[in-house]
Amino acid sequence: MKRANIKKQTHRPELFGGSPRAQRGVILKSAREIGFMREAGRLVSHVLDRMGEMVSPGVTSAELNEVAEQMIADVGAIPLFKGVVNPQAKFPFPAALCTSVNSAVVHGIPDDKPLVEGDIISVDCGVRLNGYCGDSARTFSVGTVTPEIRSLLDTTKATLDLAIAEIRVGRMWSEVSSAMQKYVEDAGFSVVREFVGHGIGQEMHEEPKIPNYHDAKQAKSDFRLDKGMTMAIEPMVNIGTHHVCYSTPDRWVVVTRDGKCAAHFEHSVAVMDGGAEILTAS
Ligand code: CO
Repeated sequence: MKRANIKKQTHRPELFGGSPRAQRGVILKSAREIGFMREAGRLVSHVLDRMGEMVSPGVTSAELNEVAEQMIADVGAIPLFKGVVNPQAKFPFPAALCTSVNSAVVHGIPDDKPLVEGDIISVDCGVRLNGYCGDSARTFSVGTVTPEIRSLLDTTKATLDLAIAEIRVGRMWSEVSSAMQKYVEDAGFSVVREFVGHGIGQEMHEEPKIPNYHDAKQAKSDFRLDKGMTMAIEPMVNIGTHHVCYSTPDRWVVVTRDGKCAAHFEHSVAVMDGGAEILTAS
């Protein structure tokens, strides 16, 4: 996921060359490139399937990460998150997975603390394979969770599914993000604002930034869905307040400000003539 509002982009498409349809640095992909992204996405989805099988009481996120790193290395892919330098963080990200437990929203660092019955864990995985990236996340329950947390997970997953189903060439993203926000808030939960989805391709983070909500400020950076856009859509949904903060002095792990649980689901998708194709599907 990408930190929102890092810098303002001016709308000067001529600076980015090529197609007059290109918007604010968005790199449209050919069918061949989307084919490479499908391969990277398939690997990410296999890793997350395996993580889902492993998650249970007593397992540690470090154990999950070890298996994920091996699966990625086995096919000659590169983990995207490992070694990422974040200007405000104390050290580069140390793992292939982000594992965010309970009130951690994103950027959790795998550790040796065993998962406990009733926990939830968001597992985010990104890889580069043959020069193209895939990025996806799922939040898993550890054993049985409370009905409220079950509803949080179901709502967040359904918000991602809804966004993907709403994608059509020519639509503005704000139509989709407004629908996502409404769905979340109608269920009694809140959408994180400080972190958003992102374009994806040869780089993990490309233009545009892809918010999961819409307001007047967002209207300035709204964009049109064009054929060949490839995007990582990743709703982050909180039970309580939408506000988040850093939990630890290392300034990696992002947690909810009220300490209540958060869920996170992400798919990389391609905008095609008939709608969105999920590139990180199982
Ligand atoms: Co992402």
